[in-house]
Amino acid sequence: MALKDQYKILEFKDLGDERGNLVVIEGEGMDIPFDIKRVFYIYGSDSEVVRGQHANRETEFLMVNVGGTSKVRVDNGSEEEIIELNRPGMGLYLSTMIWKDMYDFSPDSILLVLASRHYDGTEYIRDYEEYLKEVQREGKM
Ligand code: TYD
Repeated sequence: MALKDQYKILEFKDLGDERGNLVVIEGEGMDIPFDIKRVFYIYGSDSEVVRGQHANRETEFLMVNVGGTSKVRVDNGSEEEIIELNRPGMGLYLSTMIWKDMYDFSPDSILLVLASRHYDGTEYIRDYEEYLKEVQREGKM
């Protein structure tokens, strides 16, 4: 599958007014394709840290830098792309089986992640060689 079909950059409406900004993300096909089962956020990572470095067999994600900026490198085993998350209204949707690295965190970066599944360590692939093997196997099916 082409990488461009495995991730999507989304823009969420800002319902803010003179009192400030308000961005809403609704699940189940409203603003993002999945039902939100889990939320986590990453902050306080130094600029030289690389996080992620895994792919998920089952989980889809939506990432938003609600504060600060970071970069996400997505890789499907044959193509890669780097996306800078730099606005609270910008979301990066990731389908399953994408290898991702998050890095270049600004000191004020707060990376909010919405996930389609509860945490299950067994659906994470943390070894890149194993990831490539599984991608190749999928491609042959
Ligand atoms: P890790 O997957 O390394 O984080 P990142 O994707 O940000 O690099 O997760 C760090 C630890 O936290 C690891 O031991 C797994 C655990 N964890 C959970 O228990 N639940 C979760 O939802 C997440 C994302 C991680």
